[in-house]
Amino acid sequence: MKIAILAGDGIGPEIMGEARKVMNALDLPDCTIMEGDVGGAGYKKHGHPLPPETLDMAKAADAVLFGAVGDPDCDNLERHLRPEQAILGLRQALGLFANLRPATMFPGLEDLSALRPEVARAIDLLIVRELNGDVYFGEKAIRTLEDGRRQGYDFMSYAEDEVRRIAHAGFRAAQTRKKRLTSVDKANVLETSQLWRDVVIEVARDYPDVELSHMYVDNAAMQLVRDPGQFDVIVTGNLFGDILSDQASMCVGSIGLLASASLGEERTEWGTKGLYEPIHGSAPDIAGQGKANPMATILSLAMMLRHSFGREADAARVEKAVARVLEQGIKGADLGGSAGTAEIGDAVLASL
Ligand code: NAD
Ligand code: IPM
Ligand code: MN
Repeated sequence: MKIAILAGDGIGPEIMGEARKVMNALDLPDCTIMEGDVGGAGYKKHGHPLPPETLDMAKAADAVLFGAVGDPDCDNLERHLRPEQAILGLRQALGLFANLRPATMFPGLEDLSALRPEVARAIDLLIVRELNGDVYFGEKAIRTLEDGRRQGYDFMSYAEDEVRRIAHAGFRAAQTRKKRLTSVDKANVLETSQLWRDVVIEVARDYPDVELSHMYVDNAAMQLVRDPGQFDVIVTGNLFGDILSDQASMCVGSIGLLASASLGEERTEWGTKGLYEPIHGSAPDIAGQGKANPMATILSLAMMLRHSFGREADAARVEKAVARVLEQGIKGADLGGSAGTAEIGDAVLASL
């Protein structure tokens, strides 16, 4: 099992430290761990947010465990040198087009949701976010018009094969769950979304056992806080999925709890090659203070064990350990508690 660890910036190294403790405590066979520089750290050391040696390492690995990138020092660099380009570059270079972002209520956490407990209790959803296309990767620039005004633009597009493969991922995920798929788009305004909807409907013919519905993204944002229990699997584009998943995290209680798996078509000996990361960023506002919640990263490790290494029992064990710690009332500042990063990691270890 070859694992590349890319901790990145801000709270990245802090949360990764706790995930590694958990990894070390598991009885994993024959594991090769590689560590690489990425993000602002990559830029400062090698002059590039995704140094070639880091990219090669990620390519050679069966799975990448990723912390977070983003550094306020780098916000004024040319875009291609900014830390965020590292994660975008990895997703593209590794062909990781399917981003699975599960949001499930943890027992005992209902009162800490931003929603009323009786509304929050029912949350058990999976956002399947497309990760290789959309307005993220189209032509973009700030240009000066003939009349001297500056104009910013970003070209939004999806080709049908890009929609088809993520639609299949959404339907397949739904088949393993409650067999309900909601495709979220903005087809009432955007042509990109109209094609998205047409292709999702075509793909649906292959999955007669899955109940498909469509929802506009503005309504979806509203429904997610009105009645999140109505959703099973949501399939959506890159930008909408980014926004809705941060929102879903506060329905559960904290962005420090939501993990993700980014998968493509490449196989490992045991499953699918993937990159695993919390959905949150480098949290510069709390970096270096030992306050960050490492649970999202620990839960990302669990997703890695499941999807890339076929180790369902280990994955479930880690997830249970996290749930038990929350049930015991050990919580970080993000959930109104006082436990620090290492304390939370140690509690998960003890629970394991
Ligand atoms: P953020 O997710 O880093 O932080 C948003 C808020 O949530 C902050 O108040 C932060 O303190 C809090 N938070 C985030 N993770 C937490 C955790 N584990 N425990 C406790 N609190 C947590 O989003 P932002 O502030 O918009 O972005 C900061 C930087 O991170 C930017 O440079 C951004 O581009 C980058 N970013 C990177 C990724 C990634 O690496 N995949 C994801 C999102 C944002
Ligand atoms: C995420 C982040 C990234 C995204 C940024 C940092 C490029 O917000 O992983 O959710 O927008 O995909
Ligand atoms: Mn995001």
